[in-house]
Amino acid sequence: MKDLYTLPKAELHLHIEGTLEPELALELAARNGVELPYDSVEELRRQYDFEDLSSFLELYYATTAVLREASDFEALTRAYLGRAAAQGLRHVDVFCDPQAHTVRGVPLETVLDGIRSGLDAARTEHGITSTLLLCFLRDRPAAEALELFESLGDQLPRIDGIGLDSAEVGHPPALFEQVYARARAAGLHVVAHAGEEAGPEYVREALDVLRVERVDHGIQSLRDPDLVARLVAEQVPLTVCPLSNVRLRVVGALAEHPVLDMLGRGLLVTVNSDDPAYFGGYVGDVYQGLRDALGMTDEQAAALARNSVDASFAGAQRKRAVHAEITAWEQG
Ligand code: ADE
Ligand code: ZN
Repeated sequence: MKDLYTLPKAELHLHIEGTLEPELALELAARNGVELPYDSVEELRRQYDFEDLSSFLELYYATTAVLREASDFEALTRAYLGRAAAQGLRHVDVFCDPQAHTVRGVPLETVLDGIRSGLDAARTEHGITSTLLLCFLRDRPAAEALELFESLGDQLPRIDGIGLDSAEVGHPPALFEQVYARARAAGLHVVAHAGEEAGPEYVREALDVLRVERVDHGIQSLRDPDLVARLVAEQVPLTVCPLSNVRLRVVGALAEHPVLDMLGRGLLVTVNSDDPAYFGGYVGDVYQGLRDALGMTDEQAAALARNSVDASFAGAQRKRAVHAEITAWEQG
């Protein structure tokens, strides 16, 4: 068996705020004078026992409040990329949640300055390429998302695409039709979380109304055989997050996770870490977890890595280079 941590791979479903480890959270809280109701790393980590997506989001937004300066966002981004580089990451399409910051009075420009600096540094230091996608919070008004998009102005070229995240049930994709149309017209990539906790109809809406290029999570599609057939036929990439699904109780245990069955059925699945600081592992840990719990073979791992490259927003030349590295890993 080969080392899954050296398998070259891309990650397509990664919330930068979800990479905030307790150590950095407490350091930034002290530096920025932000009160967190936890005094130690251990106490904060003890809160990581989630009942569902909403219970996780509550803690996620609360700890996100320690991020205030561009240098905080840069430190966060650099820390993530350093860890992921050590686990074989070659390219990442990064999500960030601007509204989680703008509602606290942190300007969007500060957020973008910091994350962009971190991404630029990773390209030089680790050779990791990246794109940046802004996610709208679906449990806030669609008008606010549109307003945020319109306010981008000359910052628009600093982003590569948009996504849709936060509490899913009761907030269907179609509510965001207008802002997605604007983003597509501006030439941006478009993706959306759908079918994480809500049903297959959310996945259909994301495809038909928002016209997304990829579906984030999408595992509830398995409840609808016609939808599965469509996803196979159209080769719609699904960014599946197995450790997240277990921690948020979407799936009972990793040993029961359907991701390898999905791969076997011809779905274009990729595996990703979602919010690695909260869910027990970075992208290499996800691959290792699938081997440990499901007996994933080296061939399946390489297929998932190839899918991650193909479905990423990396350029064609970069994709070819990482494909060649995956082949070398297989032959090594
Ligand atoms: N924000 C951060 N992680 C998320 C997830 N898994 N689902 C929805 N919104 C999120
Ligand atoms: Zn997510």
